Amino acid sequence: MVLTASAGAFAFKFSEDGGDAFEAIYASAYFSDDVQDLTAVALVPANKLEGWAAFEFACARAVRPRIRRRRDVYIIGGTDAFFDPTVDWDDIILADDIKARLLDDMEAFFTKGVGIYRQLKLPPFRKLLLAGVPGTGKTMLCAAMAKIAISKGRVVVYVSGADRDGASFEKIQRALQAVTAARYPVLLIVEELDAYLQGDDKARVLNVLDGIESPNNPKGALLLATTNYPEAIDERISKRPGRLDRIFVIPTIQDEAQAVEMLKHYMGEQWHEGHNVVVPDLIDQPGAFVREVALHARMLAAHEHKTEVTPELLTQSVESLLRQMRSERDFLTQRRPIGLISPNKKPNKTPFG
Ligand SMILES: Nc1ncnc2c1ncn2[C@@H]1O[C@H](COP(=O)(O)OP(=O)(O)OP(=O)(O)O)[C@@H](O)[C@H]1O
Ligand SMILES: [Mg+2]
Repeated sequence: MVLTASAGAFAFKFSEDGGDAFEAIYASAYFSDDVQDLTAVALVPANKLEGWAAFEFACARAVRPRIRRRRDVYIIGGTDAFFDPTVDWDDIILADDIKARLLDDMEAFFTKGVGIYRQLKLPPFRKLLLAGVPGTGKTMLCAAMAKIAISKGRVVVYVSGADRDGASFEKIQRALQAVTAARYPVLLIVEELDAYLQGDDKARVLNVLDGIESPNNPKGALLLATTNYPEAIDERISKRPGRLDRIFVIPTIQDEAQAVEMLKHYMGEQWHEGHNVVVPDLIDQPGAFVREVALHARMLAAHEHKTEVTPELLTQSVESLLRQMRSERDFLTQRRPIGLISPNKKPNKTPFG
């Protein structure tokens, strides 16, 4: 680990059978405070460079991602605490059939599918995409699937675009190495897949999806990707069958029953029948909308030392959030004509996405 992953200064002493001993000094430091990039320098006697190079090579090999079965998630990119598989399957409010189809797909693949792929001499690599507008619960689904996978002894690899390197192919490549090296079935989660399909690395990412560079883990690997940008998927994915095996559309709130269920969940003990006045406004909104409306109303009530959230307060909360969304949209569309946002750039996410 010294040569590959830690910062500090180290002195090494080497002794050779019959040869002379030598010493090397090695120092490494972080480039900046907020990323994990190390830079290093080694002072080695000029006639011992070959021996040193062999040592460095052996160190690098020793720490190549060799995954043991673990209780947490193997994260590539991002900050450590970013992905937390504590979401329970039952916390997700969605039509039962969508949840069941998704879970059945994962279980059928790992229990039976892997053998069938191998019989057909195909690498057991299955690719699922969760698509939907921001805030419908795609990240929640990933976290809940991760929790289930871990409970069944599978390894979870999570690729995050949330660090300085953003969505680079290098991360996908590191993830695929980890998938191949794991001696366990792997659930590979890539959030915001569209971001990887916009940069210069697009062709290479498509190669992976097409199977040209796909990982071969004999125990099976399931890719669970997400996007809230259907256009990218339309152009590059769905026109070519086989790139993704299944696309699950994760919808906004579909009907009154679901709206009530979501509202009850986020109002918690504060919920009462009168709150249903806002239900018509919740149809076709994402779960994140209901969460924000409920939180906001509950906070205001507590701030004003009220013991209950009145229907009026909840209605105000809905209206103020809708107003905010409208003005945000207007702001973004006003910005476009003067060229501050390039036409093919994603609009900024809403704060509850
Ligand atoms: N179906 C749902 N059931 C329960 N809560 C939900 C649901 N959808 C969204 N939420 C709430 O909204 C929050 C944001 O949802 P989440 O991050 O899963 O959305 P997303 O689909 O991943 O959005 P994005 O496309 O912006 O990444 C969740 O943490 C949860 O509190
Ligand atoms: Mg998300």
